[in-house]
Formats: sequence, C-alpha cells, structure tokens
Amino acid sequence: MIIAIDGPAASGKGTVAKRIAIHYGLRHLDTGALYRAVARDTLAQGGDLADSAAAALAASRLDVATLDDPALRKAGVGEAASQVARYPEVRTVLLAYQRTFAHGNPGAVIDGRDIGTVICPDADVKLFVTASPEVRARRRFLELSQGGIAITEMEVLVDIEARDERDRSRGASPLRRAEDAVLLDTTNLDIDAAFRTALDLIEAAMGDAGRAG
Ligand code: CDP
Repeated sequence: MIIAIDGPAASGKGTVAKRIAIHYGLRHLDTGALYRAVARDTLAQGGDLADSAAAALAASRLDVATLDDPALRKAGVGEAASQVARYPEVRTVLLAYQRTFAHGNPGAVIDGRDIGTVICPDADVKLFVTASPEVRARRRFLELSQGGIAITEMEVLVDIEARDERDRSRGASPLRRAEDAVLLDTTNLDIDAAFRTALDLIEAAMGDAGRAG
C-alpha cells in the first residue's frame, strides 16, 4: 500500500503522514528532508545553491542516514531546499531512492510536493493537504519559536508564500494537486482533527477502490 501526501509549506502534511504511517504500520518518508539535506550538503561541500551541477553532485553523495539531522528544520533551510529542488538533475538523482522506498514492504506513506504526480502516480491513495497561508505561517512560527529561533510571524509568512510560488511555478515537478488526489483543508483543524479527517478520507478512498476493483 502506498499513500501519497502532497501540499504546500507547513500545511500539516508531515505530521499527518507520520501519524497515518503509525496507524497502518507503514514506513514513512519525508521527501522534503531529502531536498533540505541536498541544500545543506551543497553548501557544506563549498558549492553554491545557484549551481545545479554542485547541487546534483551533493544529491548523488547524499547519505540518507543524515535525514533526521535537526539542523534541517532550521529557518532558511526550507528556502535553500526550494532552490536546489528546481533542478531537474537533482530531482532525477533523488527519484530512484523515493520509488524504491515507496515500493518496499509493507508499503509506505510518502509526503512532499510531487509524490502523487511524479514519484508515485499509481499510489493507492493520494491526499493534497492545504491550509490558508496565515494559518500555515502561524504554525511554522510557533514551531520555529519553540525551537529557539528568533523570527517574526510576518517573516515566516513572506518566506512560505515566496517558497510556494517558486515550488508552483518551476518547470520540474511543480507543486500541484494530482487530479485524483483528495483535498484536505486543515485551516480549521488541529493536529488530531486533521489526522482523523485524513484517516476517514483514506478509508473512503480505499473503499471506493475496493468497490471499483
Ligand atoms: O516542511 P515544509 O512543508 O516547509 O517543507 P519541506 O516539505 O521540508 O520541503 C522543503 C522544500 O523542498 C520545498 O519547498 C520544495 O521546494 C522541496 N520539495 C520538493 O521540491 N519536492 C518534494 N517532494 C519535497 C520537497
């Protein structure tokens, strides 16, 4: 079973994906961490984020054991990730790992921007998670402040809107809802409610697929 969860920055997709994976006993992959790690490594290897070859080299050398590095969640890394995520060379290098992960037993919940459209177009269930920009900025602001990062809510809002715009307008695998993805708007939902609603949508989608098959 493969569940694809996409959506814009700080929409709640990562938290929902983690809980869905635990619920069904599936493995979870946060693909945003791959792009964040490529940005981190490009800079650490002396490269420039504007250099697609340097980013692709960092992607080819990526050690997936470093994906839980807390530094990847710092302010600014999401922005850097979105710069290297524009390069088709980077995306091609990361594609094989994501597909292999998706198809391993017993199945997986994968979250990102292009999972339902490019990485796993045949996923059993696809969710597209959104929320208003203001609510997403508030959530990310609280997360960063709790981590001791000094930033204003307005700065976070400007950052995530600019990043969404870049992710939506790029040529390579842009952020887009797959035609067969179910929409989950978490603007007025807390984490528990978002999880329960996601579960209901997944159960309904699997029921439909079962009836169709
Ligand atoms: O946690 P947040 O939603 O802020 O971001 P993330 O999921 O960690 O992704 C960081 C950046 O990586 C995004 O803004 C995208 O540019 C890029 N990304 C992507 O291009 N494709 C994916 N499947 C996942 C992330």
